[in-house]
Order: sequence, then structure tokens, then C-alpha cells
Amino acid sequence: MDRIFGFGPDDGGSNPPGLVGFGKMVGKMKVFKTKKFILRPAKLSDAENIYKYQQDEGTQKNFMSTPKNVEEVKKELRNDFRDRKKPKNKRDGEEWTIEIDGEASGQISIYFHDKRNRSKAKLSAWIARKHRNKGIMTKILKIFTGYTFKKYNLVRLEGYVREYNKPSARMMEKAGYKLEGIIRKNQKKEGRYVNDLLYAKVK
Ligand SMILES: CC(C)(COP(=O)(O)OP(=O)(O)OC[C@H]1O[C@@H](n2cnc3c(N)ncnc32)[C@H](O)[C@@H]1OP(=O)(O)O)[C@@H](O)C(=O)NCCC(=O)NCCS
Repeated sequence: MDRIFGFGPDDGGSNPPGLVGFGKMVGKMKVFKTKKFILRPAKLSDAENIYKYQQDEGTQKNFMSTPKNVEEVKKELRNDFRDRKKPKNKRDGEEWTIEIDGEASGQISIYFHDKRNRSKAKLSAWIARKHRNKGIMTKILKIFTGYTFKKYNLVRLEGYVREYNKPSARMMEKAGYKLEGIIRKNQKKEGRYVNDLLYAKVK
């Protein structure tokens, strides 16, 4: 049996709207269960599936980089476990594993990219190809947004979406995020500069 990482009480308030099942605490992190998926803290044994399901073109082309092997995934997870032990106002972020049919099948995370302004954060999300286009991530993003706004007193939550990433843009819109503009030549990917769409939700 895997250890579930997380320590101490949570402070995210009651369950966010849109939750189909129920929310309970595992240490510092809230676990959300619905009939289709569970959002829970990562376990080290998620690493194999996380690596396996990131090996598809859709995921690779929409992230700057993904781990090169299972060991790299484990290293990232261990960093996350260490970060989770810090007080809320010192964490780099928070990351959930998306479990479907008993398997780690995706991740959603919040990251505090501006250390001087913790009222804003960035989000990142992916789900295994076989589960895409079924409305799952839109539902997860709504739960995640409601919860993280409350827990971290956010005023702004934003996501960068590659200009060509239609499913992600659609998901952001369905979850209530607004397109604020195009950040031109924002990243260099495989030798080419790519534009990003800036989506955000503000309080
Ligand atoms: C982006 C991602 C997380 C969306 O997850 P998902 O569970 O498939 O999202 P949903 O099913 O809730 O919504 C996807 C929407 O995009 C639409 N869509 C899919 N392909 C599309 C296309 N080529 N053009 C336009 N819309 C498209 C779907 O029809 C759906 O909209 P609808 O409900 O109005 O029909 C998933 O595609 C993914 O993991 N992609 C790879 C990683 C990634 O790009 N992450 C985001 C980085 S910013």
C-alpha cells in the first residue's frame, strides 16, 4: 500500500461548487472524488503511469519539456512532496494526481511564479489521451479553480496555452477563463518561437 504524502490540516474551506462526489482531507491536501475521477495527492508509484501517458505527441508539443524517464518523474514527485511540507505561504505550488479507473492518468497543478505577489498563480494540466474530449478536465479545472482561489486567497489564476492548442483553449473557456491576449514569440520550442494565448480568471 502506498503512502499518501501530505501533513497537517488544510485551510481551503468547504468543497468548491461543481463537485459531484465528496471532498475529504489527506494531510494538507484535499481529495476530491467523483464517479469518473479522483483528485488526490501524488504517490511515488504514480511515476510509471505519469511517464507512460506523457509519451504522446499531444502532450509533448504543448509543454516546454516533459521528464525523460521514470526516474525524472520520481525526482519531480519527491520535490513536490518536500514542497508540500512547507507552510502554505512558502510553497512553490501544489499538484494533484488525476486518478481514473485506478490509474494515475493526469496531473493538475498551481504554481506561484511571482514570489513577490502570491495573490496570483499559474496553472498547468494534462490528461492521458484515452480520456480526452469527454469533458473530464473541464470539470476538474472548475473544481480546482474554486478550491485554489479560496485556499490561497487568489485574485488571479492564469494559464498559457500554445496558440495551436485548440482543446486547451476550449477547456479554459468552458471553465470560465477569459482570453486576455496573445503573447507573441513567448517560448522557443524545437528551434522555433511560438505564440501563447494568455487565459486568466480574476476575482
Ligand atoms: C488540454 C486537455 C487537458 C483538455 O482535457 P480534456 O479532458 O480533453 O478537455 P475537455 O474534454 O473538458 O474539453 C476539450 C474541448 O476541446 C474540444 N476540442 C478537441 N479538439 C479540438 C480541436 N481540434 N479544435 C477545437 N476544439 C477541440 C473538445 O471538443 C472539447 O470541447 P466541447 O466540450 O465543447 O466539445 C487535454 O487535451 C490534454 O491533456 N492535452 C495535452 C496536454 C495539454 O495540452 N495541456 C494543456 C497545456 S496548456
